Amino acid sequence: MITLEGIDALRRQIQRWRKADDSIALVPTMGNLHPGHLKLVEVAMEMADRVVVSIFVNPMQFGEGEDFAAYPRTMEEDASSLISLGTDLLFAPAVSDVYPASSDSQTRVEVPEISDIFCGTSRPGHFVGVATVVCKLFNMVQPDIAVFGEKDFQQLMVIRRMTEDLSFPIRIHGVPTVREEDGLARSSRNGYLTTGERARAPAIYRLLRQTADKVRAGDTNYERLETQAQKSLKAEGFTPDYFRVVRARDLAEPSRDDTELVILAAAYLGKARLIDNITLTS
Ligand code: PAJ
Repeated sequence: MITLEGIDALRRQIQRWRKADDSIALVPTMGNLHPGHLKLVEVAMEMADRVVVSIFVNPMQFGEGEDFAAYPRTMEEDASSLISLGTDLLFAPAVSDVYPASSDSQTRVEVPEISDIFCGTSRPGHFVGVATVVCKLFNMVQPDIAVFGEKDFQQLMVIRRMTEDLSFPIRIHGVPTVREEDGLARSSRNGYLTTGERARAPAIYRLLRQTADKVRAGDTNYERLETQAQKSLKAEGFTPDYFRVVRARDLAEPSRDDTELVILAAAYLGKARLIDNITLTS
């Protein structure tokens, strides 16, 4: 595996592959790789000749008081996992290379409306940070395909919109959520949970499944279902942020005719902010 930190060196390597007519897939990550990330890499390897994985803890997508400093950084272990999978290139740029301008004068990429709801409400500016860094990575790597997880459903939607709106010739591929045996979605932030919290954490997915079952059985009183689920989350020790049944296409309020739905959940448990979702056809 080639490991590069500099953008010029990255471009030179990409050019070599392009000359050989190799197709390229990009898997953007913030590192601390777990089986969810590694699944994305495996899928990317099936879809392209060359796979680039980026590891960059992006300061722009963390708000004030969030966990940027504490975010787990495990570069050596991550590199070993990527080598075992047969990754072609690990791109791990420095903050000063990705953001040469000061944060106030940095050009930003904003995907309106979709960035301002759900996680965007509780984390103002978060999706501007995500869209900006992913846009930069797309320009640096210029992949044919980019692979993202469906666990971050709203993020995937923001990236799909940005790709379309900015005319990037890149196919965005979503991969289903990889879970622990008890259903908890794999996440770097699960490491913040104490043993007791970890034991209660699967409740979020259990409630998503229970709510999905009720919707499938014909219950359309979404508001009541949402309130019930939030109450159960509180009883398990969570501080719920949102638990909502919405239209999968645009995360808007569903009408009776909408059949493609997604249930989105976000809740704090101790120091961790956990998010998860389930898509369903009613
Ligand atoms: P990060 O949280 O490291 O996640 C990197 C990618 O892995 C994202 O596409 C995410 O959706 C996916 N992923 C995380 N957990 C997963 C799981 N359990 N199953 C399947 N996929 C999973 O998301 C980010 O980083 C950043 O916002 C980034 C897109 C890299 C921009 O900085």
